[in-house]
Formats: sequence, C-alpha cells, structure tokens
Amino acid sequence: MRKFFLCKWFITIFVCVLIIYMCYENYKTASLQNIKKNNSRTNIFSKSSEKIILSFVVCDSRFNESLNVVKSVLLFTKTPVHFVIFTDENLRHKFNKTLTEWKRLSKNQLDFELQKIHFPEAHREDWMNLFSKCAAQRLFIPKLVPHIDSMIYVDTDTLFLGPVDELWSFFLKFNSSHISAMALEDDNPNVSWYPRFAKHPFYGKYGLNSGVMLMNLTRMRDFGWVDYVTPIMLKWKLYIPWGDQDIINIIFHYHENAVLELSCRYNYRADQCMYGDACTDATSSGVFLLHGSRQAFHNNKQPAFQAIYKAIDEYEVGTDPSRSLLNSIEKYFSKAPSSNCGNLKDAFLRVPIRTLNDLYSVPIR
Ligand SMILES: *[C@@H]1O[C@H](CO)[C@@H](O)[C@H](O)[C@H]1NC(C)=O
Ligand SMILES: *[C@@H]1O[C@H](CO)[C@@H](O)[C@H](O)[C@H]1NC(C)=O
Ligand SMILES: *[C@@H]1O[C@H](CO)[C@@H](O)[C@H](O)[C@H]1NC(C)=O
Ligand SMILES: *[C@@H]1O[C@H](CO)[C@@H](O)[C@H](O)[C@H]1NC(C)=O
Ligand SMILES: *[C@@H]1O[C@H](CO)[C@@H](O)[C@H](O)[C@H]1NC(C)=O
Ligand SMILES: *[C@@H]1O[C@H](CO)[C@@H](O)[C@H](O)[C@H]1NC(C)=O
Repeated sequence: MRKFFLCKWFITIFVCVLIIYMCYENYKTASLQNIKKNNSRTNIFSKSSEKIILSFVVCDSRFNESLNVVKSVLLFTKTPVHFVIFTDENLRHKFNKTLTEWKRLSKNQLDFELQKIHFPEAHREDWMNLFSKCAAQRLFIPKLVPHIDSMIYVDTDTLFLGPVDELWSFFLKFNSSHISAMALEDDNPNVSWYPRFAKHPFYGKYGLNSGVMLMNLTRMRDFGWVDYVTPIMLKWKLYIPWGDQDIINIIFHYHENAVLELSCRYNYRADQCMYGDACTDATSSGVFLLHGSRQAFHNNKQPAFQAIYKAIDEYEVGTDPSRSLLNSIEKYFSKAPSSNCGNLKDAFLRVPIRTLNDLYSVPIR
C-alpha cells in the first residue's frame, strides 16, 4: 500500500516536470522564431529604406555644370540622396561650401562625401590624361569606396528630368549575372559610331554610352573589374578615342550578359534627335535624363538642350520650383531657333511636368 502511494507520488512529480519542461521548450522555440521574424523584418526594412547613391567625377572646369546635376536631382526627387563626389584639391573646398549650404536648404534631403582623385601609381599619367582629365577615375570606383554596395554614376554633363528613384529601381531588375546597367550609344546603323569607326572590340552591335551607369559595386568587385582595366588600357591606348567609355565597351564585349540595357530615354543625347527622332521611347514616355555630350549644353548648336540647362542653372535651391521652372523652360524653348531636337519639345517637357505636378500637386501660389 505504501509502495503504491510512493509510486503515485513519483509519477505525479514526473508528469509535472515533463509538463513544465515541454512548456519551456515551446516558449523557447516560439521566442526564437519571434527573434528570427523580427530580424527578417528589420532586414527588409533596412533594404527598402537604403539611400540612393549618386556619383560623379569632376576636375578643372566642370564645377558649375556638375552642381546642376545636383540641382536637377533636388528639383525632381523627394527621397534622400547621398552624393559621392570624386574631385581634386582645388574644388574640394568649393564643393563643401556649396553642398553644405544646399544640405541645409533642402532640410537634409541631400548628403554628400568628397573623395580624392586616386589613380594607381604605375601609369598614373596615362590614366590622368585619358580622354579628359580625371574622367578615367570612374573605372576604379569599385576599389575606392569599399563601403558602398551600389551607385548610379553620371557624367557631369547630365540633367535629371524625373525622380532618381525611378532610375535606381532598375537595380531590382538585375538578374544574377548583371553587374551594371547602361544605354546603347545608338541603334541606327546609318549613323552609329562604333560599328563604323571603332578599331577595338565593343559591346553588342552598336556599343554602350557610359554617361549614365548603374553600378553594383559589390558585384563589380567580385567580378575583379579593376584588375581588367589596366591591361586593357595598355593594350588599346592608341585606339580608344573615348577613353574610359571604350574600355568599358571592351570589357563588356567579352561579358555581354553582365549588362542590363537601359532605354535611350535614360541617357538622351543630341544624337537621339538631331537627325530626326531616333528614340521612340522618349517620344512616347518622355526624356528622363538629358545628356549634353559634346558640349550640347554650352555650344549653341542644340538650343533645346541649352534651354533646359539654362532653366535648371537659374533655379535657386530651396525655392519653390513648381511654376517658375516650367515657365522658364517654356520661355527659353520659344526663344530658341528651331531645330530637329526642339521639334520634340513635348518629349523634353513631359517628364518634368508630370513630376512637378506629382511633387507639388497643390500649387503654393
Ligand atoms: C518582436 O517584435 C514585436 C513587435 O515589434 C515585439 O512585441 C516582440 O517583443 C519582439 N520579440 C522579440 C523576441 O524581440
Ligand atoms: C560658375 O557660376 C558662378 C556663379 O553662378 C559664376 O560666377 C561663374 O562665372 C561660373 N563659371 C563658369 C566657368 O561658368
Ligand atoms: C566641410 O567643411 C567643414 C567645416 O570646415 C568640415 O568640418 C567638414 O569636414 C568638411 N567636409 C568635407 C566632406 O570635406
Ligand atoms: C548588389 O549585389 C549584391 C550581391 O549580389 C547584392 O547583395 C546587393 O543587394 C545588390 N545591390 C543592389 C542595390 O541591388
Ligand atoms: C538608313 O539608310 C537607308 C538608306 O539611306 C534608309 O533606307 C534607312 O531607312 C535608314 N535607316 C535608319 C534606321 O535610319
Ligand atoms: C541576364 O540577362 C542577360 C541579358 O541582359 C542575359 O544575357 C543573361 O543570360 C541573364 N542571366 C541569367 C543568369 O539569367
């Protein structure tokens, strides 16, 4: 009888311990799952709230022009943008002064870092003077900013006409072999430069224009990008009139699947309109980014390009652009002598009009 009683006691205690243990295990896995869930949630969050990074390289005389890239971004984008600017000692102070002021005026929408010009010691002179001073710097960017995952690189003679977010979103379209996105130099065999004149390999049938380049720097580092450029420069330096752009074309000639092709409306040059409409995507959806290559913003040969440049140049950061900007673009367009590009005025204006309407839907005045 006593034995039986003891036994019952033991069983009860055992069952209790078992229950407590099971509860504890259950709690542990539940909270682990919770932590995992919470972590993945913060990961998704930090990814989508990642800042857009925009970069350019400027030495010498292109200071004013490059500031207009920044202005065009502030005009048409409302999300934060981080600028990474590679520049020489002379301009460092000027950039710091102007951008610090604009950062304040834009209520910290803009943020920036200034990087020194830095070429490998061997062949430094060759690199420095390839095409225009410092332009080749961008080939080395993956190694120079190891803390940055991805960026949009633009030449200093470019202007955004719509929100940078739209261009940045092409990173989401990258498949696993893409490391970069760019537009073609052109796609008209009658006028195309590369197939007619190039003495070196180039991307696809028509070559790439490198004035606007989405770069996944992480992938470019994994690819070994910077190790490719010096041997290519040494081999081809007498045959590459467009310098860094030609080197990019040579690399991608051998790695075509690493490039996502962008529409011509994201790198719209006078070539796309001076002989007639050669970018139907821009005529239907509007020019998104204007590229004034070969001095189109300054040399009086492309009044349409100059009209837009002048209006953006005159814009003062921190003021409300919703009416004044479009008015001055209209004014400069109507003053300009007629031209093939000018005939496509609607294509030039469509994106700015839509963007400003979206951003300032309630006009202040
Ligand atoms: C997970 O997040 C929720 C909601 O933010 C919070 O209540 C919970 O305590 C978090 N759990 C852990 C384990 O951090
Ligand atoms: C650059 O802009 C400043 C101020 O707007 C002006 O005074 C200067 O002449 C410009 N420089 C060039 C080279 O256009
Ligand atoms: C800009 O100038 C300020 C004040 O002189 C200095 O503290 C800051 O480090 C400079 N920033 C850059 C990016 O050079
Ligand atoms: C760039 O590529 C890396 C490696 O594949 C990836 O983790 C990262 O998310 C990519 N960056 C962007 C902005 O897509
Ligand atoms: C190229 O030129 C030929 C002959 O002049 C013409 O028939 C053709 O339409 C042109 N192609 C393009 C894409 O302009
Ligand atoms: C990625 O897209 C390119 C075309 O842009 C294609 O050539 C390549 O095969 C694709 N890569 C993968 C892994 O699907």
